[in-house]
Amino acid sequence: MARSVAGGALEYLSKPLLTDKLLALLRKIASPHQEAAYEPEYSFTPASTIIGRSLKMLEVYRAVARAAPSAASVLITGASGSGKELVARAIHAHSPRVSMPFTPINCGSFPETILESELFGHEKGSFTGADTSRSGLFEATNGGTIFLDEISETSLSFQVKLLRVLQEQKVRRVGSNTFIPIDVRIVAATNKDLSAMIRAGQFREDLYYRLSVVTIQLPSLEERAEDVPLLVQHFLKRFNQRNQRHVNISEDAVKLLASTSWPGNVRELENLIERLAIFAASDEISTEEVERELVRRNEATSTPENSTASLSGKLQEMELKAILRVLGESGGNKSLAARKLGIERKTLHEKARRLAIDLESKET
Ligand SMILES: Nc1ncnc2c1ncn2[C@@H]1O[C@H](COP(=O)(O)OP(=O)(O)OP(=O)(O)O)[C@@H](O)[C@H]1O
Ligand SMILES: [Mg+2]
Repeated sequence: MARSVAGGALEYLSKPLLTDKLLALLRKIASPHQEAAYEPEYSFTPASTIIGRSLKMLEVYRAVARAAPSAASVLITGASGSGKELVARAIHAHSPRVSMPFTPINCGSFPETILESELFGHEKGSFTGADTSRSGLFEATNGGTIFLDEISETSLSFQVKLLRVLQEQKVRRVGSNTFIPIDVRIVAATNKDLSAMIRAGQFREDLYYRLSVVTIQLPSLEERAEDVPLLVQHFLKRFNQRNQRHVNISEDAVKLLASTSWPGNVRELENLIERLAIFAASDEISTEEVERELVRRNEATSTPENSTASLSGKLQEMELKAILRVLGESGGNKSLAARKLGIERKTLHEKARRLAIDLESKET
């Protein structure tokens, strides 16, 4: 089946992905001389399908395929909304632990003491309010996978305790002297630069090495813009299925989406598609509708600090905004708009083509 990455895999990848098949394929590519010992026997639900066939995503699949069968800790890094949790779930789902629990916990959303008792459990009377003994998530997840999201948000003293649990594979409830053996696989995620945090004394190096036996770096959506059309179709299809609709999108509108910047990555694209589908005036989302949404989005998030967009992406958006505004002010009159913008009519046409603005639908 897998002739080569260039032949077999890409040919297969020209369709939206069925992750388990893809992983089986990639596993064979990754170890050409060795048949995979473990074959997944279940199907991923559509909600957890990972979309993308860019080279960057192929690398991700390959890493998932290599890491999943083992019990090694995995550290997933990547910007917000880039799919870290999805990948963590894929690792668990393609591991021999698939029938055991997968427990995600956001380390950033608890104060230290609560996080400790959530994960390790506590004995009755170990702190004010602990009126019963309780097992923690490590015990409850025995045999499965714990997903420690936003691991960078933990305190140094918590990191010491976590490291001890991982090293000894035993957990001690808060306020107890008994060690309980556990078998839990750890997948951690962060959108911070942990190396920099180690240098700044904010993250323990020993824990870092323990967590990052395998690291998977997720690309930002801008690094894999060629995946945008696939993602758009995927989200539209899901929307249509959920809502019994048949909303489509024009080719130019998809091009515009693929050429814009996505500081919020896949999550942002997903939300935008949902909005576009809900408010679509007809069954086909038009370029104008996408432009309007992009302008709205940019107005909502136009502080320079919170954007990781590239300079060219930002300039393009500023241009897009200016042209749309002036076209509106000029009642769609292109000569007038060009004059107001201080550019030639020809240049306006070139820019409009590049920014996928449909000048023809506007009056002259
Ligand atoms: N490759 C992908 N294919 C399909 N959907 C994706 C993909 N990547 C992300 N998504 C979707 O985008 C949303 C955000 O993904 P996810 O929660 O995994 O990101 P994250 O990196 O954990 O973000 P955060 O750092 O904000 O927690 C989810 O709804 C997820 O289903
Ligand atoms: Mg997340």
